[in-house]
Amino acid sequence: MTILIGNDHAGTELKNVIMKHLTDEGYEVENYGTDTTESVDYPRIGQKVAEALVAGEGDLGILICGTGIGITLAANKVPGIRAAACYDTTTAHLIREHNHANILGLGARIVGTELAKDIVDSFLNAKPLGGRHQDRVDLITEIEKKYSK
Ligand code: RB5
Repeated sequence: MTILIGNDHAGTELKNVIMKHLTDEGYEVENYGTDTTESVDYPRIGQKVAEALVAGEGDLGILICGTGIGITLAANKVPGIRAAACYDTTTAHLIREHNHANILGLGARIVGTELAKDIVDSFLNAKPLGGRHQDRVDLITEIEKKYSK
C-alpha cells in the first residue's frame, strides 16, 4: 500500500517519525511535504497530496500541520477527498469505517509522537464498513457535486 504524506513546517519532525514508522511497517511512502522548518503555506501541501491521491498516485494520505486542521480543510476542497484530523485512536478508525476518510490529519503541536503512531496504525488498519455508511458518504458526495463547477 502506498501512503502519500505531506506536512508544513510545523509538521516536519513528526512527518519524519511517521515516515520511518510506515516504512518499518512495510508501506511505500511518497513525501509531498517540506523537509525543513522554514515557514510554508499549509494549503499548498494539502492540495498537492489531495490532488495526487485523487489522481491515483497512492492509496491513502496523511497530512500534518500544527493542528491538523488547516491542511485537512484545504485537502477537503478537492473533490473526492474526505480528510479529518484525529487526536485519538478511536476517531482514527471511525473516520475510516464510518466516513470512509481517505486522508488522516495529524496535529504535530497537539499529539505526541507515540500517540501519533498509534493514531496512524488505527487509521490504516481500519476498513470502510459500507452499507448505511456508504449511503451517507454518497450524500456527502452529492453536496460536493452540487457545488462543483
Ligand atoms: C502554522 O503556524 C500553523 O498555522 C499550521 O501549521 C496549522 O496549524 C494550521 O492549521
